[in-house]
Amino acid sequence: MPGYELMGSEELLEVQDVFNHGGVLFRHGFDAMRNDCYKVREFEQTFAAQMGVPHALAVSSGTAALRVALAALGISRGDEVITQCFTFVATAEAIIESGATPICTDIDLTLNMAPADLERRITPRTKAVIIVHMLGTPARLPEIREICRQRGLSLIEDTAWGCGGHLQGQSLGSWGDIGTFSFDFAKTMTTGEGGMLIFRDEQLWSKAAAWHDHGHENNPSVPRWEDTRSSSGFNYRMMELQGAIGLAQLKKLPEVVAAQRANKMDLWQAIFDLPGIQPRVVPEGSAETADALVFLVRDMATALRCREELLKAGLATKILPEAVTWHFAGTWHHMAELVQAHEGQLEKAFMASHAILSRAVSLPVGVRLTPNATKKVRHALGIALSTN
Ligand SMILES: Cc1ncc(COP(=O)(O)O)c(C=O)c1O
Repeated sequence: MPGYELMGSEELLEVQDVFNHGGVLFRHGFDAMRNDCYKVREFEQTFAAQMGVPHALAVSSGTAALRVALAALGISRGDEVITQCFTFVATAEAIIESGATPICTDIDLTLNMAPADLERRITPRTKAVIIVHMLGTPARLPEIREICRQRGLSLIEDTAWGCGGHLQGQSLGSWGDIGTFSFDFAKTMTTGEGGMLIFRDEQLWSKAAAWHDHGHENNPSVPRWEDTRSSSGFNYRMMELQGAIGLAQLKKLPEVVAAQRANKMDLWQAIFDLPGIQPRVVPEGSAETADALVFLVRDMATALRCREELLKAGLATKILPEAVTWHFAGTWHHMAELVQAHEGQLEKAFMASHAILSRAVSLPVGVRLTPNATKKVRHALGIALSTN
């Protein structure tokens, strides 16, 4: 959770800086008015450096980042893109919006994509895979990246939940061909609304940069109205105020993640010995963002009882078990393309995943956690789990 807990004077100073330099809110041009103040550009460069990659592109949301990534990879009608059944609707929406068919895989006990199920769902039409580091825990990247390499598929990492996390010392988002991030208000760092893509490949970056800006190539030798273009595109640009806030939040990211990791550990120490708690499986070498503490209990009734007791104590759960409807493809009957791709039988398509998710409990972890709150969590879960 979150950057919003630490929103303060640093963000305000960055925003004021935009106005002190002439108040230009558009990321491009107006050079004579802006006194060399380019916040979005600076945010991209700093973000790329912090993630250990050469290129980054800021956009208007995490959903936009996914859509731009698919466009840069040339995904379109007739293609299939595989993602996991436990994610936010945005992942599937971006695939549908690109014209491609969304296919979902089961998850395993990491609560992320099951590599064996990915292999099973690849067809000659499959062009790309979008894995998701759901709730801040790294997906099985080495196995999935190898499958993509062997089968000639592009890999996108939906890193909406993984900003500031690592696997085997490498930033999440930097393992695939493109990593996408969300900076909406609930994320580890926030610009209110906003997103980012990161790339190693310069050509992919320049395709994405043009596509997110109506095809503009931002050719420095001509004014914007005479700019060169090689493709059509859309408008998913980030504005300067978001870039300014992003710069301040990015500086705080290591502090946010470190505090969350420490708090998650404290919470776990307080509850791990309660009856029937089974920790989420975490791939070796993971350094999670620790946005949430996820564990499994005996069955769905027990998971719901955990939520009920936490609510009674004035606490909360985060996404699991309550939001299985909104974060689980097995219930997305409103997405005709997805229903059709799974033979009209969504409820039967991911039964193994549903069995896992329905007995999972996720506790929110923030930057500020008092010892009293930790005690209250133990007490509430103690009641819920002793009723077994
Ligand atoms: C996994 C995942 N992908 C993408 C998004 C979309 O991000 P945004 O809200 O910035 O559009 C979200 C948002 O919660 C998400 O959880």
